[in-house]
Amino acid sequence: MIAITDVSESDLSIIQDIAHRTWPSTFEAILSPTQISYMLEIMYSLDSLKAQIQDKNHVFLLAKDQTDDEPLGYVSYELNYKKEPLTKVHKIYLLPSSQGKGVGRLLIDKVAEIAQCNGNNRLGLNVNRFNKALQFYERMGFLMVGQEDIDIGEGFLMEDFILEKQLT
Ligand SMILES: CC(C)(COP(=O)(O)OP(=O)(O)OC[C@H]1O[C@@H](n2cnc3c(N)ncnc32)[C@H](O)[C@@H]1OP(=O)(O)O)[C@@H](O)C(=O)NCCC(=O)NCCS
Repeated sequence: MIAITDVSESDLSIIQDIAHRTWPSTFEAILSPTQISYMLEIMYSLDSLKAQIQDKNHVFLLAKDQTDDEPLGYVSYELNYKKEPLTKVHKIYLLPSSQGKGVGRLLIDKVAEIAQCNGNNRLGLNVNRFNKALQFYERMGFLMVGQEDIDIGEGFLMEDFILEKQLT
């Protein structure tokens, strides 16, 4: 059984650890090792994670295996993104050994439920144009609404599709 729990500031090192164990296999065929290290630093230093929670209203949820309390992965989201009735899914990462077992679906369904409880009528997210997670999102009912290249400094770009899912 999977439990989905809120993440407090004292748990942020768990998020950081999962990211460091998941990003290499996720992005090794897409991004250079230097870009992966740079992005992990700007997005997953403990200071950055704290700022996401405290200043940017990001909420992190952790999926755990209830039998042994082991963390499996996380999602972060932001309600009312840019003052629209849209919940932005900023991050969703499962440890390699926990992928393909339905946990991603549980996390997206949970965020969708929270979004609807808060009056939001769609989910939105960005995904790297070359990430196979794109097929997961399509399976979950997301549609492509655009694309953008985001300059993240040091000469690096995030080359993303923008996806949205209507909530009924
Ligand atoms: C992307 C990710 C969150 C998906 O979660 P998951 O637990 O592996 O996916 P699920 O097992 O819940 O799959 C749900 C459905 O999507 C399908 N799916 C999942 N990954 C897929 C893929 N790569 N290609 C095609 N279909 C896929 C599953 O077959 C399943 O379909 P079904 O309902 O018909 O059985 C997870 O694989 C992951 O963390 N990947 C690496 C990190 C990453 O890329 N994160 C996204 C960054 S934007």
